[in-house]
Amino acid sequence: MRLRPGILLYAISIVTMVTCLSWKLPAGVVFAQERKIDALFLELDKKYRLPEQWSQLPIDIEDPYKRIKNGPPLTNVINKAKVEWISRWIADPKRVVPNAKMPNLGLDFEEIKAVIAYLGSIKENELPQVAWDAYLLKKEDALSEDEYNKMDKVFNGGKGVWGRARCTICHPIKGLGGNVGVGPDLGAITTKINRDWLYEWLRDTKGHFPDTMMAQFRFNDSDLRGVVEFVMRDTQFIPEEADEEEGDNGAKSAAPEASVLTAKEFETIRKEAALIEKGKDVIERARCFVCHDIKGIQELMPVINRNRQGLAGFDKLLYEVRCLTCHRIQDKGGSYAPNLTMVGSKIRMDWERDFLQAPDIIRPLSQQMPKFNLTADEAKSATDFMEKSLITKEPLPSAGITGEPAPEVVAAGEKVFYEKGCNTCHAEGMKGGGVVGPNLGTVGDRLQQPYILYHLKNPQQANPQAVEPNFGLSDDELKALVGFLVDHVQKKASKK
Ligand code: HEC
Ligand code: HEC
Ligand code: HEC
Ligand code: HEC
Repeated sequence: MRLRPGILLYAISIVTMVTCLSWKLPAGVVFAQERKIDALFLELDKKYRLPEQWSQLPIDIEDPYKRIKNGPPLTNVINKAKVEWISRWIADPKRVVPNAKMPNLGLDFEEIKAVIAYLGSIKENELPQVAWDAYLLKKEDALSEDEYNKMDKVFNGGKGVWGRARCTICHPIKGLGGNVGVGPDLGAITTKINRDWLYEWLRDTKGHFPDTMMAQFRFNDSDLRGVVEFVMRDTQFIPEEADEEEGDNGAKSAAPEASVLTAKEFETIRKEAALIEKGKDVIERARCFVCHDIKGIQELMPVINRNRQGLAGFDKLLYEVRCLTCHRIQDKGGSYAPNLTMVGSKIRMDWERDFLQAPDIIRPLSQQMPKFNLTADEAKSATDFMEKSLITKEPLPSAGITGEPAPEVVAAGEKVFYEKGCNTCHAEGMKGGGVVGPNLGTVGDRLQQPYILYHLKNPQQANPQAVEPNFGLSDDELKALVGFLVDHVQKKASKK
């Protein structure tokens, strides 16, 4: 085994730290005195202590990353996934989906057959059937020219919706994308699901999987039909081998695949009571219920049903759109998108309301927020909440600029901006500049004045990972820069 140099260095620094400490300690001080702390005190402390600068929230926020069972419920999985797919999946998840989280449980083919028979027997409801235009159900080469053109229009509409919804932020496709790190790879999804299920899923994700981390987009019927058409037809959702096999001389994959239960064979075994009973037994022994909610096995490890009936306002949005799959509030949620804990002290809410309804590009080289199509009411309830509750405990100090900044201040700020080289990372509207940081062209519309000051004083305090250096600006430079930046508003930008 080789010790990595970094670890070695770390070990040495700890040793030095400890030796230095003991060396500096006055004689007679003993380390081993352990203080006894009252357990009740610890309880209360945990309950009431708020970390520095956090405000107490009026609602109990749910962390989508802490769901009870990480796998989807299996009760109606037979409506969702093709039998062949389920059979291959249980045999070896990673072979089917590159980023699968489910482990290979080492079941043999007879056991897999029994498990699928059981899963077939517990189906609770029929999948709602969507009325599709007949031509949409035909293979491409069976379409007349006229039908092809009509299909193509639906397909292209869906391609646009797919792009604006930024599905690939969460879902990799054949290994590419998926930066949020939560969605399954969709590179072979057409081998798994059918269009009716996909429509229903996108219409109401929570209906199938109440704890899902996927955002519930506000799609209308035509958006839904478009996305379904796009996903069911575009080659990126078809596995590569299947593509090649059509050419007939595609090389067969090296390792032979284990047996697969076909839909036809499933029809002959699905009613066999002994097999179903065996399947239940296998599921209990393989402990599938640790990760899945499964009808008939629930008692072994129930899902604690959170009551989400009465949710309203921002609470409801958080649950439905799953904002915290990407964002973080206090100690809950993900780290892909900006932390929202203090967003109400950062962003101007008139700007935020528009952004939530139609996200704009702010960070050109970085991530962008999907277009969820939030309604005006939804956006308002979100901004109202942010303004009232997602704020610093004490208001941030102001730079002392009220109303429009004086022209001298703006001019002085401009000078500092170019002297310090802020433009190497930031563009200023149409004026050009770097693209490492956001374009500051309309930053005065977007950010609150005290927040700009707070950010410039120490960028790492606002965001520990910030790449922007701390320039150690003087109070005068700070005030001038803040004046210069709050003057960057749309009204002026469009006049230039
Ligand atoms: C350690 C947790 C874990 C165990 C144990 C487990 N699974 Fe899974 N399973 C998952 C996860 C997570 C997924 C979601 C896909 C993925 O892996 O990313 C999944 C997906 C599935 C799917 C596809 C469901 C869908 O809606 O797409 C099926 C079917 C399935 N599992 C069956 C089983 C069976 C049968 C067992 C027991 C033999 C089992 N699982 C045991 C974690 C688990
Ligand atoms: C916020 C992240 C996120 C976004 C954005 C997102 N998804 Fe998902 N999606 C997920 C997760 C996570 C799952 C798996 C269910 C779970 O674990 O909660 C999923 C499941 C799915 C599934 C089922 C896949 C399977 O194998 O079971 C499909 C299909 C799907 N998403 C399509 C889409 C489409 C289309 C879009 C864009 C309109 C989209 N998703 C946007 C996170 C996301
Ligand atoms: C799929 C991931 C994802 C989801 C889900 C999501 N966002 Fe975002 N959000 C982002 C990204 C990425 C940005 C940064 C956009 C940019 O800078 O261009 C962002 C930016 C924001 C901002 C601006 C923050 C700032 O400091 O600049 C706010 C406010 C916001 N989102 C609120 C929400 C709310 C409210 C929800 C739920 C209704 C939500 N987001 C759901 C990814 C997401
Ligand atoms: C080395 C590159 C770099 C330099 C130099 C730099 N910045 Fe930044 N700045 C960034 C990045 C990157 C961000 C975005 C941080 C984030 O995504 O949260 C940023 C964020 C900002 C923001 C907040 C923007 C927003 O919309 O959230 C302001 C204001 C800002 N910088 C002003 C300045 C000023 C003024 C200077 C010069 C004194 C400067 N920056 C110098 C990289 C830089």
